[in-house]
Amino acid sequence: MKESLIIFDTTLRDGEQSPGASMTREEKVRIAKALEKLRVDVIEAGFPAASQGDFDSVQAVAKAVKDATICGLSRAVDRDIDLAGEAIKAANRGRIHTFIATSPIHMEKKLRMTPDEVVERAVHAVKRARQHTDDVEFSAEDAGRSNPEFLCRVFEAVINAGATTINIPDTVGYNLPEQFGALFKYIISNTPNSDKAIFSAHCHNDLGLAVANSLAAAQNGARQIECTINGLGERAGNTALEEVVMAIRTRQDVFAFDTNINTKEIMTTSRMVSAITGFAVQPNKAIVGANAFAHESGIHQDGVLKHRETYEIMRAEDVGWSANKMILGKHSGRNALRARLTELGVSCDTEEELNRVFVRFKELADVKHEIYDEDLLALVADETVELESDQYRLVSLKVVSETGEMPNAQVTLWMNGEECHASAEGAGAVDATFKAIESLVASGANLLLYSVNNVTNGTDSQGETAVRLEKGGRVVNGQGTDTDIMVSSARAYINALNKLAVRAKRSHPQYQGDV
Ligand code: KIV
Ligand code: ZN
Repeated sequence: MKESLIIFDTTLRDGEQSPGASMTREEKVRIAKALEKLRVDVIEAGFPAASQGDFDSVQAVAKAVKDATICGLSRAVDRDIDLAGEAIKAANRGRIHTFIATSPIHMEKKLRMTPDEVVERAVHAVKRARQHTDDVEFSAEDAGRSNPEFLCRVFEAVINAGATTINIPDTVGYNLPEQFGALFKYIISNTPNSDKAIFSAHCHNDLGLAVANSLAAAQNGARQIECTINGLGERAGNTALEEVVMAIRTRQDVFAFDTNINTKEIMTTSRMVSAITGFAVQPNKAIVGANAFAHESGIHQDGVLKHRETYEIMRAEDVGWSANKMILGKHSGRNALRARLTELGVSCDTEEELNRVFVRFKELADVKHEIYDEDLLALVADETVELESDQYRLVSLKVVSETGEMPNAQVTLWMNGEECHASAEGAGAVDATFKAIESLVASGANLLLYSVNNVTNGTDSQGETAVRLEKGGRVVNGQGTDTDIMVSSARAYINALNKLAVRAKRSHPQYQGDV
């Protein structure tokens, strides 16, 4: 039996810190359930002290998930720790993850604390967290640029105080694999009580080395890797779960450990995270990119047809890629839809929710005769896009586009309790539509990103649109799906405007200003 490597997923916390990737409570619960099916060991569900919404989301995940450990992040301050403890209370297994920075630059310039004060605060935080749960993780923020001897001193003290997992983050993505591996080896050998804790790696991808650094850490004693689906995360992102897991699974000849991950669930989870956050996956992304298993060149195709392993080191089906399957049609009923959604890992919590999805499914089946799994998943993701509390809703849209003429869009929105109409011309059909909507909403937001991807092949495919808006430094993403890409574009734009309209105050865990 090989040793088991703990997979700690932080898509809902560090992933969500990516500008524009914020998720609603319902979206977080859906992703958490997918992560549970994927069999991750630990789900970091959020930073409960950030806002009431974040606290509620962590609590909702703790109630919804049964198999994985649910973790809440906290700075090394009593209020954060107590809120994290309260938020994870309902979990079958709950963990508090507390952290403080240990690098000279962070201690001096950010915390304005001496190394002795940092050790004292870290010990106090771990003891306080232990009053809530036996499962306490301690992180030395910016460990990758910290003094290794000082790290050993901090870790010895927090293990004595009750920390059961010691996380070593390369917060700014500065380390190289050999160096990061050597850091683990040094720390595990020179921390006198290192056998009393599990050591963990948490890498950022600023130099494109997050996966390589995580693997180097594991080869030097780390038995937990922190990662996110699709590598989502601030700046260049975090270690990509699917890459690190498949590297370990594929190279069992090299690694002395394996993970519990059910790799067949990778694609469903990847698509769900991408659809919910609006962060598209690049086509050449390892494992989950559209081209990851596509063999374009004639030589490769010939080789693969003669003997698959000439050019393929993994099987597409092992990570959940399947040939597009026609699963339901125009005449399929509610029960068939429910059964297929359940097979896809999507559960409609109420009959009303299922009814809404069923209505959308029938509308789609009228215009698109072959409905694939991908269509259903996109449709379900889109259903959660419109909320009762939304300030703006699309009622109707008419777009006229003709060669030699300026495109014109006429839009009707439900806002302020009534239907409001506007029309506008634009450089193109999308431009005209967005201008018409903006003339009603007057948001003043800047459009940072607009992209459309087809959900399946063919010109009758649904278009999945992502829109990113910025206003006053706040960035939000909106999504919309429809077979008509003008409608999906309008829905995505309105979804982003609705998110901008919600003035949620959240604090960021790594800025200490408001402690
Ligand atoms: O990157 C980092 O240092 C973090 C910590 C909060 C663990 O995300
Ligand atoms: Zn991080």
